[in-house]
Amino acid sequence: MMDHRIEQDGISPTMLTRTEFPGALESTYLSSCMRGLMPASGRKALDRHLDSLVTGRTDKAGLFDLMEETRSRFAGLVNADPDEIAFTKNVSEGLNIIAASMPWQAGDNVVVTLGLEHPNNVFPWLNQKERTGIEVRIVPERDGHIDIDAMIAAIDDKTRLVTMPTVTFSPGFRADTRKIGAFCRERDIFLLVDAVQSVGVLNCDVQDMIVDGFAVSTQKGLCGLYGMGFLYCRRDWADRMTPAYLARFGVDLGGGASEAATATLGYDLMPGARRFDLGNYNYPAAAVVHESLGILADIGMAEVERHVTSLSCAFADRMLALGLPVMGGPSGPHLASIVSIGHLAEGHDSTSDSDIQALSDHLTAHDVIHSIRRGMMRFAFHIYNTTADIDRVESLVRDWQSSRS
Ligand SMILES: Cc1ncc(COP(=O)(O)O)c(C=O)c1O
Repeated sequence: MMDHRIEQDGISPTMLTRTEFPGALESTYLSSCMRGLMPASGRKALDRHLDSLVTGRTDKAGLFDLMEETRSRFAGLVNADPDEIAFTKNVSEGLNIIAASMPWQAGDNVVVTLGLEHPNNVFPWLNQKERTGIEVRIVPERDGHIDIDAMIAAIDDKTRLVTMPTVTFSPGFRADTRKIGAFCRERDIFLLVDAVQSVGVLNCDVQDMIVDGFAVSTQKGLCGLYGMGFLYCRRDWADRMTPAYLARFGVDLGGGASEAATATLGYDLMPGARRFDLGNYNYPAAAVVHESLGILADIGMAEVERHVTSLSCAFADRMLALGLPVMGGPSGPHLASIVSIGHLAEGHDSTSDSDIQALSDHLTAHDVIHSIRRGMMRFAFHIYNTTADIDRVESLVRDWQSSRS
């Protein structure tokens, strides 16, 4: 068994990067909020799967075992029961599964902070407004933060669902779900979170977070491929929901029934979130994320979160000390894995702020892989980053500053 424990900060290359994330040594990779680096063991598992397709020796029963093991690993990661986990394509599909399967009633409303949501958690609600006539209640943001008290104030006896990101895609601040979760739970209101900027980097426990739905994709903190996601739906809610789409894997034909077995008119839905599974799965993506989930479990998510946030906090403070406009100011509990630098504005992949754009270009030219979202540079940390990455960015920023003075 490989030793996946994280060594002390500042030791680079770590055992982890040498064995699993060699990509982290090739550049200064600060972009897990866009795509996590794929681990070497994930690549090997993917190769094995592709080889089986090339030779025609695919073991279908083995693939089903892989899916169930992956489901259990993800359930373990977020402290859920495997029956509460469905496989999806991405965050968008997870959110839409809930949106389309909710038993909406006339006059229902949904509460959402549209201004801080990724568009993929905006359109599902605008679509349901068109389709079912629900009201979409828009809560204003507060300086880049989700305003939990304002969201609670927007809830009334017609609110059926509240949705929010656990960490925004930009500027990347955390939103604590527990207060609003407890409020919603008492009133049987569904709390649905887009957790893709938390999963794999923060210690997410769906019980402790008091959420009913938790949608993620695998290409960011879970270091997997595009085109696969997970949806947690709390058993008590899932059992009351009729899926908008239904196919073989969502139907309970008994344990021994074959993949191609069918029912006549009467059928039972699978228990919990399994009813949302449809047909064949994204097996290549599952082969990869199965490995990453194993690595994360070996390290332990509490340790992953400690490592990631100690780096993001140190980075925020050191960039601030260099005089850069760190969104949110000094480090604090608002930080997750992402640190944004600049001013909130329009701008995806580029910004009209010429200083920020020039610094971003300088860092890109020196192989610091990062992104620009909402006009700001966005840097994100994961288990394969170390303080050496921060040292390198600091020194590049100093060079850039002295070249301009
Ligand atoms: C908060 C957030 N939600 C959703 C997405 C993407 O959604 P999907 O997985 O559906 O492409 C991203 C980033 O791509 C994101 O940062």
